[in-house]
Amino acid sequence: PSELVIAIDGPSGVGKSTTSRALAERLGLAHLDTGAMYRAAAAAVDGCGVDPVADPQAVIELVRRARLEVSTVPGRDRVVIDGADVTARIREPRISAMVSKVSTIQPVRDLLIERMRQVVEQCGRRIVVEGRDITTVVCPDAEVRVLLVADPSVRVARRSAELKGAVSRGQVADQVIRRDRDDSVVASFEAPAPGVTVIDSTHLTPEQVVAAVIDLVPAGG
Ligand code: C5P
Repeated sequence: PSELVIAIDGPSGVGKSTTSRALAERLGLAHLDTGAMYRAAAAAVDGCGVDPVADPQAVIELVRRARLEVSTVPGRDRVVIDGADVTARIREPRISAMVSKVSTIQPVRDLLIERMRQVVEQCGRRIVVEGRDITTVVCPDAEVRVLLVADPSVRVARRSAELKGAVSRGQVADQVIRRDRDDSVVASFEAPAPGVTVIDSTHLTPEQVVAAVIDLVPAGG
């Protein structure tokens, strides 16, 4: 089959993972959640008691040495770092709150971006890759490049539903808005890069978002 890289960027709570997983299953592609890689790095940093703001050099060394394994099978989101399965841990609020402190260290990004590109090659360039800078930095030559956006209130509502009421709506709103701000140095979603298609999912069902992306796949892909 021909190469088909689908790059999906967007802010937290916009539905990137739901969309990417469904796309991968539908089209028979691999799936890479790059946010999970930054989260795994953050979990390792947290587990070692390193303060990423006070000691970025220690973080860089740790990430350089870490053995990171991520599943690319759609729907099987397993993440293992240095032999420890951190799949559940990386979704904890503690990690969500600190992940930007790790992801904004440029040498950490360089290391993980290199790893992401290796995974894309290993999958024969038949993969859906989701994140913040996939359309612009990691896979700017992807066959399909999408920026997924949605009104903040809708993103908060979706994240709340995902957390099944474990956290109050106000707290979720704080987290979503704060992470938008913390991540604003990583990527700005105000305007898409040239050649990137914006899909506003505010008034779309997950199924409609998937269909809109499939419409962008070149014939023969
Ligand atoms: O997508 P998710 O919300 O799980 O991403 C977690 C964090 O990882 C983001 O808040 C951001 O700090 C970082 N990230 C990034 N670049 C990417 C993907 C995620 O900096 N491509």
